[in-house]
Amino acid sequence: MDWTAMAAPWLRIEADTDAAHAPVRHELMARANLKKGQRVLDIGPGAGITLLDAARAVGPDGQVTGIEVAPPFADRARERTPRNVDVIVADAQDHAFEPATFDAAISLFGVMFFRDSVAAFANIRRAMKPGAPLHFACWGPPERNPYFTMPGRVAAGVFGPGAAFDPTGPGPMRFGDVEKLHAILSDAGWSAEIETLDMVLAPPGSPEHVASIQMTIGAASMRIGQAKDAGTLTDSQRDAVKAGMVEGFAEMVEDGAVRVPGNFHFVRAVA
Ligand SMILES: C[S@@+](CC[C@H](N)C(=O)[O-])C[C@H]1O[C@@H](n2cnc3c(N)ncnc32)[C@H](O)[C@@H]1O
Repeated sequence: MDWTAMAAPWLRIEADTDAAHAPVRHELMARANLKKGQRVLDIGPGAGITLLDAARAVGPDGQVTGIEVAPPFADRARERTPRNVDVIVADAQDHAFEPATFDAAISLFGVMFFRDSVAAFANIRRAMKPGAPLHFACWGPPERNPYFTMPGRVAAGVFGPGAAFDPTGPGPMRFGDVEKLHAILSDAGWSAEIETLDMVLAPPGSPEHVASIQMTIGAASMRIGQAKDAGTLTDSQRDAVKAGMVEGFAEMVEDGAVRVPGNFHFVRAVA
């Protein structure tokens, strides 16, 4: 996945994404339970919301390092974080980390995109002090996450079936299968506990607004981009995708707000 190319649309909707994912982020940070003075690694911090959380948790005597493959995300993360945060632009899979450096590592939705997951988790493990924990959150199975599947289904209704989903390749839904995730972490030398929770995402705004965000990133926007690149996209196709998603999100409204059920794995692994 070309995250540098994808950064611009992501950064345009940064506030919406931060708000939508907040329940998962809060759960992750509570589990990570970072302490004052620690050195913490954040893998794939994107625009940097978890760097902010971690910097607050470790305080001015601690140090937080983000490793982020896409320069535009790293720039934005540096802009919004305090002095005890640094962001390395590099691929976490093969970056030459200083060995045995970090007291803890965290990642919110940032570890599902490696070319070789076992190699990447093994590389990250070498950067950890003995016994230091890695906490990350990732999406559970697609069928439990309508935030992905509903826009994908709507787009398929307009454009026809998309490419078959490869559950082993880099992508947000890669670790839906807990057994496979356990095996990957174990092969990389980690001892992991995985807890799976149903949670409710709270993307801000009306169904119309949430659908407009999904016209910018996600499964439907990807299909729109493909049709545009092929020179076949029509206004009526674009309007139909948007209208279908407005309808889909309207069905998820509770007490006047869009509430999207989701399923997430929370991983605690020890080096
Ligand atoms: C889904 S985004 C999550 C961003 C952020 N953690 C958040 O939750 O807002 C995935 C992030 O991982 C980064 N990423 C993907 N592959 C990476 C790699 N191999 N090394 C470092 N960062 C990577 C992407 O550039 C992107 O910022």
